[in-house]
Amino acid sequence: MKHSNRIPAITLAIGIGVLASGTFPAKASAAVDGKAVFDKSCSVCHSVAPPPKSAPPILPIAARYHQRFPSRAEGIKYMADFIKSPTKEKVLADPQAISRFGLMPPIPLSPAELNAVAAWVWDQYTGGSWGPGRGQGRGAGQGDCNPQ
Ligand code: HEC
Repeated sequence: MKHSNRIPAITLAIGIGVLASGTFPAKASAAVDGKAVFDKSCSVCHSVAPPPKSAPPILPIAARYHQRFPSRAEGIKYMADFIKSPTKEKVLADPQAISRFGLMPPIPLSPAELNAVAAWVWDQYTGGSWGPGRGQGRGAGQGDCNPQ
């Protein structure tokens, strides 16, 4: 009647979470509040969840970053660089977003702010319904791609 082999999934999840946050080196220096930076510099264009304002919402973007990068540190680094100087080539979340919304302008922020806001965006995705394949969809059938 003993079930001692079963490690509760929640224990593992907490363990992994602690490990992941412990390995993120810039955390200690992040005196900047990522959410505050977002509200000030990003929220004019980005909503967090759909519907979009004038840019793709943050949740599907964050989900895509989680899919693309094996570690939080790498994802944040890439995103911080994108925010500082977006180019067409760097876009990875949603290439079609450029034709819908245009390319994002560079956002002038300090390295600490860039890092904090990228970390905040990354952390918005916690699994669940914004997984791969959901979100910004093709397939909605706009049908307006006739060459003029
Ligand atoms: C003037 C409007 C505007 C502002 C302000 C803005 N963005 Fe964007 N952002 C966009 C648009 C449009 C896109 C989609 C096209 C693209 O990827 O360039 C985008 C795309 C992104 C992406 C996806 C990049 C990828 O790899 O595909 C991220 C991440 C992002 N924004 C983060 C931010 C953050 C964080 C801020 C604030 C520091 C911010 N944006 C401020 C318009 C904006």
